[in-house]
Formats: sequence, structure tokens, C-alpha cells
Amino acid sequence: MTLEVAERESKTEEDKRLNSKLVSESQTEVIQVVQPEDTNPMGVAFGGKVMQWMDLAGAVAATRHARRPVVTASVDHLSFLAPIHVGDFVIIKAAVNYAGTTSMEVGVSIESEDPQTGQRHHTLSGYLTFVALDGRGKPTPIPKVVPTTEQEKQRYEEARRRRQLKLQWRAEELI
Ligand SMILES: CC(C)(COP(=O)(O)OP(=O)(O)OC[C@H]1O[C@@H](n2cnc3c(N)ncnc32)[C@H](O)[C@@H]1OP(=O)(O)O)[C@@H](O)C(=O)NCCC(=O)NCCS
Repeated sequence: MTLEVAERESKTEEDKRLNSKLVSESQTEVIQVVQPEDTNPMGVAFGGKVMQWMDLAGAVAATRHARRPVVTASVDHLSFLAPIHVGDFVIIKAAVNYAGTTSMEVGVSIESEDPQTGQRHHTLSGYLTFVALDGRGKPTPIPKVVPTTEQEKQRYEEARRRRQLKLQWRAEELI
């Protein structure tokens, strides 16, 4: 294969990678079981541990969307709504809400499930921004995301507005 043909083929691969993607193509669900070492002396999960699970599930969704390595650029405000106890199942759902040029907002929601009763509690939601990187560690383009359901369309529009606000705040050095 000549260099020219190899270059043309790899460009075609890159074009394919950059095709728009559905939200469902990168949606991710991870389940953890809270272990004693994840908890404080009261048997309640550490916030930092839950944030680690959130970051990991978000990174999987972002990587599935970009098909490139990603780094966490920012994490939005988080409020812990209910304690998660040792032995609980933790269901972490992540979906790409919006994709810019090289960055994407991933919405992550966390529920805890009592393994004995099956009762679930919404514990935490947050928005994380990931940036896709090329082989030299520089931001690299990612596919657009196509929201299809009403909920996805609403999340897309909300994420687009959050991005605009954050760009403005960063420009004014408020964040
Ligand atoms: C995130 C990072 C790659 C951005 O690099 P950069 O050279 O500032 O990139 P740019 O200014 O060209 O911005 C690239 C994209 O990232 C977005 N971005 C940059 N900083 C951001 C931030 N703090 N929050 C949200 N988005 C951000 C930009 O808006 C831009 O998005 P777009 O391409 O969709 O328009 C770089 O700051 C970095 O490597 N940070 C450390 C990441 C890391 O190690 N995370 C783990 C922490 S332990």
C-alpha cells in the first residue's frame, strides 16, 4: 500500500469516526456495590467515592461518543440528596447531552437501591465536561450528538445553554 493510499484510507476512518451519533450509542450504565472501605464509620458512602464512580461512568460514555481518550475538564455543582449505605447497589447512568467541537457535556445520575427491598432513591445528579484528546494530548474534534427523544432534546437544549453561560463566566474569570 502506498503512503498516499494509506493516508486516504485513514482519512476515511477519521471521517467515519466523526459521523454524528445518537445519544443511545454512548449511553452507559454501571452498577457498583458499596463496600465497607467505601464508607465512613457510620456506614455511609464517601462523597469522593461516589464522585469517582460518576467520573468513570461519564468518561466511558464520553469515550464511546468520541472514540478517543478523554479528560475531565470540569464538574458542575453537585448536591448529595440522600445517603448511600454499605451493601447498597449504586446505579450510575451517564449520557452525552451535548457535543461542542472537542468537548461534550455528560449528564450523570445516581440512584441507590436497597438490595433487600428493591427500593430506589435518587441520590445525585451532575454534569461533567470531557474533552477528547489526540495522540499528542491536544483537544481533537468529536462527532455531533443527535438527540431523538423529547427528553434528549430537552437535555440537549439545557446543556447548550449551560455551555454558553460557562463560556461567558470563563471569559469574565468568574469560574
Ligand atoms: C481540558 C483541557 C484539555 C483543555 O485544553 P485547552 O488547551 O484549554 O483547550 P481549549 O481552550 O482549546 O478548549 C478545548 C475545549 O474544551 C473546553 N474547555 C476547556 N476548559 C474547560 C473547562 N474548564 N470547562 C469546560 N469546558 C472546557 C472548551 O470550551 C473547548 O470546547 P469546544 O472545543 O467544544 O468548543 C486542558 O485544560 C487539560 O488538559 N486540563 C486537565 C484535564 C485533566 O487532567 N483532568 C483530570 C483532572 S485530575
